[in-house]
Amino acid sequence: MSFKSLVSAVTIVIVGYYWMTYVKRGPVYESDKKLNGKTVLITGGNAGIGKATAMDLAKRGARVVIASRNLKKSNKVKDEIIKESGNHEIRTMQVDLSDYDSVRQFAKEFDESEKYLDYFVNNAGIVLDGMTKYGMNRLYVVDYFGPFLLTNLLLDKMKKQSAERPVRIINLTSEGYKFAEVYESSMRKDPQGWFEIFFVYWETNLVNIQFIYNLNKELKDYDITTYSVNPGTLIHTEAVEELDFNTKVLMFIPQLLIMRDVYYGYQTSLYTLLDDSVTAHSGGFFTGCSHEKLWPHATNESAWELLKKKSLEVTGLSSI
Ligand SMILES: NC(=O)c1ccc[n+]([C@@H]2O[C@H](COP(=O)([O-])OP(=O)(O)OC[C@H]3O[C@@H](n4cnc5c(N)ncnc54)[C@H](OP(=O)(O)O)[C@@H]3O)[C@@H](O)[C@H]2O)c1
Ligand SMILES: *[C@@H]1O[C@H](CO)[C@@H](O)[C@H](O)[C@H]1NC(C)=O
Ligand SMILES: *[C@@H]1O[C@H](CO)[C@@H](O)[C@H](O)[C@H]1NC(C)=O
Repeated sequence: MSFKSLVSAVTIVIVGYYWMTYVKRGPVYESDKKLNGKTVLITGGNAGIGKATAMDLAKRGARVVIASRNLKKSNKVKDEIIKESGNHEIRTMQVDLSDYDSVRQFAKEFDESEKYLDYFVNNAGIVLDGMTKYGMNRLYVVDYFGPFLLTNLLLDKMKKQSAERPVRIINLTSEGYKFAEVYESSMRKDPQGWFEIFFVYWETNLVNIQFIYNLNKELKDYDITTYSVNPGTLIHTEAVEELDFNTKVLMFIPQLLIMRDVYYGYQTSLYTLLDDSVTAHSGGFFTGCSHEKLWPHATNESAWELLKKKSLEVTGLSSI
């Protein structure tokens, strides 16, 4: 072997090693913290990152309530979790976040039947087109207004219990917020093509981050902390499996190069749920199992005042 090809081979091995370690994998959060006696509500807990999170928390002894549209799918996952964790405190409930009546019904039922809510994981999310009966696109309703309503409806319960038991609210979002700006018009249009869909999706990431950041301020008198979580740029979940053919072709190379296993996709959720140090950055943005300072457009106060007014108006609430 010539010296040159030896150098190339060594370079490929080194770059390959770092790629596999830092790009295809991410930081892993290690903790033996137990959650016996704690109740976790997790939306979208029957698939992808939510399911992996639910399984982990069940193994730590928590009571886990999985909420999503498809009860059959949730019950199958419930059986799987019970079998693997040996924890029988798993409950499934139905909610459709694209339907405010369903969200109200769910919140009432949860409030009446569950004693505590210690950890609330807003995880359900979609990247799709289509409209809801409210004349708004599904992305905006499922990825923002529905969970905004749900969070607010459960706040009284969380406020009451926070005197004796602290509460954490975790919200999954993505780094895409960095490229987003909020346009009221995008709430009402049906995005066409993946380019538009992604821009609207990123917009919903931004409004969620604004909400979580300001919710923390609104709740400063209570022992309730809030966290926005980026699971990673591209995580292998059902969401990726369900893409249409053209998008799949488009995503082939990025998938090969950067897509991470779902195991790495729930580590930052876990970090914000369990770590003691994160409360110092309540309201903030977390990625790769650490806190990252928010870009200024996400913490703009007058933008939040506008968004808050809009969100209350859309969901029919009078205040946060
Ligand atoms: N995967 C990634 O690369 C990636 C990257 C950045 C951020 N994220 C974010 O991480 C979160 C989880 O993503 P994922 O990839 O794990 O998703 P996923 O595998 O597609 O799962 C989506 C979950 O949301 C539920 N859901 C969908 N529509 C709903 C509705 N209208 N009402 C109630 N539940 C609904 C689904 O359950 P039902 O079908 O039973 O309703 C399912 O459990 C999302 O918020 C996503 O935006 C993901
Ligand atoms: C929190 O995160 C979920 C999952 O990405 C999202 O659908 C929801 O709209 C978020 N926002 C709030 C206010 O809970
Ligand atoms: C903050 O948001 C308001 C309202 O959207 C906007 O007019 C203003 O330019 C923003 N300020 C900064 C510093 O981005």
